[in-house]
Amino acid sequence: MNPGKVETQSATQEANRTSRDSLTITDNRTGKSYEVPITDDTIRALDLRQIKVNAGDFGMMSYDPAFNNTALCRSKITFIDGDVGILRYRGYPIEELAEHSTYLETAYLILRGELPTKKQLDEWTYHVTHHTFVHESIKKFLDGFHYDAHPMGMLISSVAALSTFYPEARDIFNAESRQKQTWRLIGKMPTLAAFAYRHSLGMPYAYPDNDLTYPGNFLNMLFKTTELKYKPNPALERALDVLFILHADHEQNCSANAMRCVGSSHPDVYSATAAATAALYGPLHGGANEEVLRMLLDIGTIANVPAYIKRVKAGEKKLMGFGHRIYKNYDPRARIIKRISAEVFDVMGRNPLLDIALEVERIALEDEYFVSRKLYPNVDFYTGLIYQSMGFPVTMFPVLFAIPRTSGWIAQWEEMLLDNEQKIARPRQIYTGYDTRTYVPMEKRA
Ligand code: ACO
Repeated sequence: MNPGKVETQSATQEANRTSRDSLTITDNRTGKSYEVPITDDTIRALDLRQIKVNAGDFGMMSYDPAFNNTALCRSKITFIDGDVGILRYRGYPIEELAEHSTYLETAYLILRGELPTKKQLDEWTYHVTHHTFVHESIKKFLDGFHYDAHPMGMLISSVAALSTFYPEARDIFNAESRQKQTWRLIGKMPTLAAFAYRHSLGMPYAYPDNDLTYPGNFLNMLFKTTELKYKPNPALERALDVLFILHADHEQNCSANAMRCVGSSHPDVYSATAAATAALYGPLHGGANEEVLRMLLDIGTIANVPAYIKRVKAGEKKLMGFGHRIYKNYDPRARIIKRISAEVFDVMGRNPLLDIALEVERIALEDEYFVSRKLYPNVDFYTGLIYQSMGFPVTMFPVLFAIPRTSGWIAQWEEMLLDNEQKIARPRQIYTGYDTRTYVPMEKRA
């Protein structure tokens, strides 16, 4: 026996063993070991099912409330590295897109995977622009809402209502139909949003102007009064376009997940988008920018900031616009938005709440509570200030988020539909209720 050789062999075996892309799990209940493949640093939850204590056992599941550590899909759309603060659409850094692109070009990139050629962009712009009108019945539908209805409620309902106008949208596996619904949805979202806004003001609806850019036309439908031709302010038009770029997609966030989940039962894209819009409405997601504004108004003065921060640290309040499930660093979108806010304030005048916001950020970024929890400003911290300066009421803020996010939702939906591994989304549960009980007649109940 050559002990040296044995040692070399076992070293090689050890190297082979440790370099295998697999995970060995030992079940201490049974002493059995299982080898589970690792792909992309991930194991498949279904591979755990083979781990059983006896043949009748259902098998092991993973428990992950709120999907903290569960990948739902494989996706090529958006990349985020939350520790470093990186956001890329289809590989392109958000900073470069915000600098050089337009929302419509970015939407094309997100949906089609590549930047368009000039011809492709012209065609795409033409089709989206020529789908901006909504059926006149939508106006009657909106008229049914109370004068102070939240525009997000009106948007959710009217997007769902679009489904009834385009029954062919149910043909979700027909690429041509999907294309058409995409033009329609991206084209009509600003119209529905603007109509909801005009309804709340009691003003007549302003129809789309196809000579204008996507953000320019939106400003036209919102703010046009008696002028024959609305001329958007170029600085505000560009600021809105950049804000739209920044909000176009954000991988598997709450509303994208709603879009995929609802879409997985195969309704038309309008119904799934209504669900995604509803998910966006919540104050922990797209409703946060509205809450930031309310919070800044509540704080009122710079002098009140330390006392407010103290209440947040005591767990009485949340610092809205701070913190993120994925970003444990400065949200790269917040950095760009801070820069745009200066450009908007140059045109519209400085928003007096900005000084309070800057003080909140300054104190929070130095405070141990926020530093240790890696809580940084997120996309919503400064957007509300810009929107307010541009003349939007607070209730329109989440609506302004929903318009550009539509392109991301559709891209996520289409990717899900065409992914052979996807099925109807149906999580498992750990049942913690009663075992079987016998029905108790009313007279015998305590
Ligand atoms: N203010 C104060 N404390 C906070 C905040 C906040 N905004 N956010 C998180 N924390 C604290 C939590 O209380 C928790 O503290 P603990 O460890 O002592 O219990 C810790 O930080 C970790 O927070 P989680 O709640 O575990 O973080 P999670 O990933 O679940 O939540 C979320 C992320 C929902 C965004 C949260 O940070 C939050 O509510 N922020 C305010 C709302 C907001 O701005 N939402 C917009 C997000 S961006 C978007 O959707 C477009």
